[in-house]
Amino acid sequence: MDLLLFCLLFLFGVRGQGSSACPPHCSCHQGHVNCSHKSLTSAMLPAHFPPGTTQLNLHSNLLTTLPNGLLDNLTHLHSVSLHGNLWSCDCGLLYLRAWLIRQPKGLLSHRNISCSSPPGMRGRLLLYLTEEEVLESCHYWYCDLALASQICLCVFALVQGLLLVAVIVFLKRFEKLSREAKRATSDDAMSDVLE
Ligand SMILES: *[C@@H]1O[C@H](CO)[C@@H](O)[C@H](O)[C@H]1NC(C)=O
Ligand SMILES: *[C@@H]1O[C@H](CO)[C@@H](O)[C@H](O)[C@H]1NC(C)=O
Ligand SMILES: *[C@@H]1O[C@H](CO)[C@@H](O)[C@H](O)[C@H]1NC(C)=O
Repeated sequence: MDLLLFCLLFLFGVRGQGSSACPPHCSCHQGHVNCSHKSLTSAMLPAHFPPGTTQLNLHSNLLTTLPNGLLDNLTHLHSVSLHGNLWSCDCGLLYLRAWLIRQPKGLLSHRNISCSSPPGMRGRLLLYLTEEEVLESCHYWYCDLALASQICLCVFALVQGLLLVAVIVFLKRFEKLSREAKRATSDDAMSDVLE
């Protein structure tokens, strides 16, 4: 019983710490969370930053997208650096774009976030892309997926049709064979009787 309680306490202790502890790959000092120059990819980003973060450095990494809601709870944040990454300006950056637009005009450090891809957007500043431009990339992505699934459906239907034809051909042949077999046995029986 004591052991169970201890395990539970331990688990909750670790979980509770998870949100306020310094994220892996970063260094923290009094609200300043520095994760710059760490070759961080988007998959390596923590699920949360400490709630008391006032300054966040994410510049000079390999980030392509930012998870939805990642910066929402950081109410004390007054500076964030995001330049020098591999931002891919498609659907995946709609959250960051919307977040940037909501920030006060005085916060200059986030102005120079430029896109690395798609090719047509290379070098453009995320803050000054129109929503239509970003949405266009999403549109193409969905179209490709829809087209791919349509092609898959066609292939499946074709394979199913071929299987159906094969089954019918086999049934027909089986029927013919069994009819012949039956006739052969009744012929044998007839000749037995005659002899
Ligand atoms: C942040 O971390 C990087 C890499 O460890 C280091 O080069 C840089 O000086 C740090 N910046 C600040 C302001 O502490
Ligand atoms: C922000 O806070 C809300 C409510 O406390 C919580 O449900 C949500 O998971 C938090 N989001 C992040 C990214 O920390
Ligand atoms: C982006 O802005 C920051 C802060 O103003 C600055 O330190 C950095 O050199 C700028 N980077 C580029 C690529 O312009």
